[in-house]
Amino acid sequence: MSTGVVIVAAGSGKRMGGHRNKLWLPLAGEPILAHTVRLFASHQDIDQIVLVVSEPDYADVLALLKAENLPVTVALGGNERQDSVRNGLAALATSCTYVLVHDAARPFVTKQQISDMIRQVQRDQATIMAVPVKDTIKVVGASGFVEDTPARESLWAVQTPQAFRMSLLQEAHEAAKKAGKLGTDDAMLVEWLGHPVSVMQGSYENIKITTPDDLWLGEEIMRKRRG
Ligand code: CTP
Ligand code: MG
Repeated sequence: MSTGVVIVAAGSGKRMGGHRNKLWLPLAGEPILAHTVRLFASHQDIDQIVLVVSEPDYADVLALLKAENLPVTVALGGNERQDSVRNGLAALATSCTYVLVHDAARPFVTKQQISDMIRQVQRDQATIMAVPVKDTIKVVGASGFVEDTPARESLWAVQTPQAFRMSLLQEAHEAAKKAGKLGTDDAMLVEWLGHPVSVMQGSYENIKITTPDDLWLGEEIMRKRRG
């Protein structure tokens, strides 16, 4: 049974505010992107990696992959993350029974978590990593007033990787495109099909590098792990 991963890296990093994609920013001296790709490339349970990148990054990504001799298929992204994932799926070998979808901006997922997720998706067909929220979450209306306070016990903050039976995720993406619907993660598309999605507890260290604050937090996580 073969498992592939689609790593999406085709964003522009607007919230980071730099002059180019945030994934080139250094973490322990090397691009965030390099950390994430290396992790999957050295994982024994991953058979194929598709890296989805944007046009402006294409040449530099190819150079990085060549310099590190990383066995990766490169695909071009789209305007929305959902488009990038769809393009990545199209580039994945049909022999993959399961697929993980991962944000390149999350370099701190661990090999153990990836293995656990692959085991769980073989049972459930759709599995996401998430952590219980620590804060109370409010629904705030356009007027700036609170509309609702959902019970915290049932709220989880969703991360990547998310894992799916390949045929299920393909079907979900096709249906969403046909209906012109845009989800904020891949599981949502599968939920729209009415398919159950199981949750695997992730870790609070699996942050997504999004704003400048995340960079120093990322350096601290790196330092801690490297001892
Ligand atoms: N991504 C992508 N294609 C897009 C948009 C996002 O492949 N059209 C990828 C990003 O490169 C990132 C992941 O999806 O690895 C999660 O997105 P996010 O953290 O929002 O990154 P950006 O979209 O680049 O950042 P921002 O929203 O601040 O512009
Ligand atoms: Mg974004």
